[in-house]
Amino acid sequence: MKSENSVFNVVPAPASIEARDGEFSIEDSATVAWSGPESARDVAGLFAEYLKCYAGISAVVAEAPSSAAGISLVQTADPAPDDDGFLPENYEIEVSREGGIVAKAPSAAGLARAVQTLRQLATAGGPGSRAANAGARRFVVPACCVSDAPAFRWRGLHLDVSRHFFPVEDVCRFIELLAQHRMNVFHWHLTDDQGWRIEIKRYPKLAEVGSVRARTIVGHHSKWPHKWDDTPHGGFYTQDDVRRVVEFAARRHVTVVPEIDMPGHMEAAIAAYPELGTGVFSDVGVRDIWGISQNVLCLDDACVEFCKGVWEELFELFPGKFCHLGGDEAPTKAWEECADSQRLMAERGLDQPRKMQSWFTARMSEFFRDHGRRLIGWDEILEGDALDPSAAVMYWRPWAKQIDIAAAAKIGHKIVCAPTSYTYFDYYQAEPVSEEPAGIGGLNTLPHVFSFDPLEGIAPEASDAVLGGQGQLWTEYIATRDHLDYMAYPRACALAEVLWCGSRKPTFADFSRRLSAHSKRLAAEGVTLWQKP
Ligand code: ACM
Repeated sequence: MKSENSVFNVVPAPASIEARDGEFSIEDSATVAWSGPESARDVAGLFAEYLKCYAGISAVVAEAPSSAAGISLVQTADPAPDDDGFLPENYEIEVSREGGIVAKAPSAAGLARAVQTLRQLATAGGPGSRAANAGARRFVVPACCVSDAPAFRWRGLHLDVSRHFFPVEDVCRFIELLAQHRMNVFHWHLTDDQGWRIEIKRYPKLAEVGSVRARTIVGHHSKWPHKWDDTPHGGFYTQDDVRRVVEFAARRHVTVVPEIDMPGHMEAAIAAYPELGTGVFSDVGVRDIWGISQNVLCLDDACVEFCKGVWEELFELFPGKFCHLGGDEAPTKAWEECADSQRLMAERGLDQPRKMQSWFTARMSEFFRDHGRRLIGWDEILEGDALDPSAAVMYWRPWAKQIDIAAAAKIGHKIVCAPTSYTYFDYYQAEPVSEEPAGIGGLNTLPHVFSFDPLEGIAPEASDAVLGGQGQLWTEYIATRDHLDYMAYPRACALAEVLWCGSRKPTFADFSRRLSAHSKRLAAEGVTLWQKP
């Protein structure tokens, strides 16, 4: 990275950015010209939307050759996504007084990243908020030359909407913010023991019954005796809501990866349809405490058909390559104690209860493949020997010695690095933790997140298997948008820089300098930084 970025304060840092003399001013009724495949039109539309939203500029979107207008978005090719579903994201930008703005990329995804860099460049000297610029009707972009490409293909943020429900507007805002940091994956954790949050038309009770928890723990789960608020907590997304979110994300070239966590973390579903459980435990309900539930799916044939039915509806809603089957924290006690499960294990030739899960994951992986999708799951899916190499693994447990990520990479599994130790943003971010807003535990400070290396511990010959990494926002203790912002930012900025820059990551001092200017952009978006909500 050239040092000029300390002038522009772009986060994450572009590979190369050089200042030129002068600036280009985007005025009201500017034309945003696009050329190349039709997909460039949508990106031009997004840029025009930003101009309206951030500076009150009414721009016209028009197909035109690159020299005909002051702003040109040029898509030079129309590649198919690679085997993992990703498009190239490299881009170049030139800004000059005479030539205007020319952004070029070999795909619409690359152009979309260029648009985010332009948005930041236009606010290099000031906050660039909707409110601050709304009356200005002018957006000034400093003259410069940018050449950029990401180090990792998967640059994600996860959001748990089960423990606390967030409305569509908050979800879209979460996606907007991650897109502004040139991240490209939104992992939507849609279901868990404490709430099922998506309408499934063929199983209506999942949303009707499974989305409502009678009460929520007050204070930290580790404090005894537990106290509850006695206020029902509910909410779910209709399929139309889901379409809105997916479309909003797609316009920003962000892929939504839905997660339906199976076969554990399914107590809300079992509360709705008790036949999905083993019947071993009597206390089934939409769970009102945190932690791991013993109530897992029974995994008989009807249950597996049910799971496939759920996913068939999801495949219609989510066009992305990867679909997340969860797979974490599924205790085996229910399968050990249930006579039907024991019979099933014998019929299926499974000599240990743990193999029920790997048997199930293998069936689901085949089913996903038959529907043109790829399964991804938390690293527990590697336990057992039945996992198809086409499945990708989300590595979250650095302490799980039985899991060898480097070996998994060598046999062909793609890896997304999401270790608790660097990427769990539900952990506290500063000490003393007693003065921080509620967190689940642990400590992940901003410099620590910035020091994350997704390739650490992976043999060089297996490093191509690492798709990238992802930050996690589990929401047991996060009930409001302000608290969510506080936990996500600025750590997500650091993670975005790790994943975009890879081995050319600048120093933490350089990042911090840019971040202090960039935080004004975030504050202008209403993101609460470094203040207790
Ligand atoms: C997880 O944090 N249980 C994946």
